Amino acid sequence: MDQAETLRRLAAQKPKVAEPKADQDIRIIAVTSGKGGVGKSNVTLNTAIALAKRGHATLILDADMGTANIDILLGMDPRLNLGHVIEGKASLFEILVKISDNLYLLPGASGIMDPGYLGIQNLEQLRKDIGQLESMFQYVFIDTAAGVNQMVIQALKGSDRVLLICNDEPTSIVDAYALVKVLYKQDPEAFIQLVVNDVAGEEEAEDVYGKLRAAIQHFLKRDLDYLNHIAHDDVIARGVILQKPFMFTAAESPARGHVEALAEKLESTLADRGGKGLLQLFQRLIQP
Ligand SMILES: Nc1ncnc2c1ncn2[C@@H]1O[C@H](COP(=O)(O)OP(=O)(O)OP(=O)(O)O)[C@@H](O)[C@H]1O
Ligand SMILES: [Mg+2]
Repeated sequence: MDQAETLRRLAAQKPKVAEPKADQDIRIIAVTSGKGGVGKSNVTLNTAIALAKRGHATLILDADMGTANIDILLGMDPRLNLGHVIEGKASLFEILVKISDNLYLLPGASGIMDPGYLGIQNLEQLRKDIGQLESMFQYVFIDTAAGVNQMVIQALKGSDRVLLICNDEPTSIVDAYALVKVLYKQDPEAFIQLVVNDVAGEEEAEDVYGKLRAAIQHFLKRDLDYLNHIAHDDVIARGVILQKPFMFTAAESPARGHVEALAEKLESTLADRGGKGLLQLFQRLIQP
């Protein structure tokens, strides 16, 4: 089957993205930022580890299709990844890897930038697999690429909650504002919460929150929710170099306390509203 025929088949078979019914049990949390390199992947991974340690079945989907690196942060080298699923060369369960108790990863592809390239052969199987994943997991974390592109926006629209990561650099704050502006335009219902990362303490985090919130209130006439801050802490950088996330290794440390607090806040509030479900998310990701 050639590419054109595959696409025609997809167009014929695939229903348009269903309006999310917001009644699914699974909770999808996207982690994103305006500027790159502000800590998305580390926040994703370590918060997911914290929730898994609290007994919740948790899945990480590495949706940074250009430079996926959750696997690298874990010192893993998975043979198959989402790129193979998109190309029709593997099923979701063939790429699923166990990280630790209660924690699994759908590895991302490196070098795939164009979600328009679809070779998925067996949509029925894909739907069945998504349904099965839905019944296996309570939380799904999506690590996105930085910035505003259509794939990121689709991932954010398909999530129940968006954690916006920002640090104290003016460029990071300005870029976060730009992302919020685009997201609210495309999805006025988006539920965005700020996580200020890599700061000296609460005061600095509040300062960042204040600046970003003021811009959003003034120009977009919307408010911004604050979730938590994570201190600048060498255990994070060390974990990156050792390819062992600090939530697996470090004893008490400021960042550990903050990530645990963040996970607890998510745990206590994620049940507040129903979830949109995994099927609509995958429909968005593979048919933006
Ligand atoms: N709280 C922190 N304390 C100290 N260092 C940090 C902290 N958060 C992140 N870092 C450092 O910043 C680097 C980048 O983090 P990370 O890869 O998670 O960012 P990212 O937003 O996912 O980047 P990209 O946009 O490239 O995907 C890490 O390698 C780590 O060294
Ligand atoms: Mg990253």
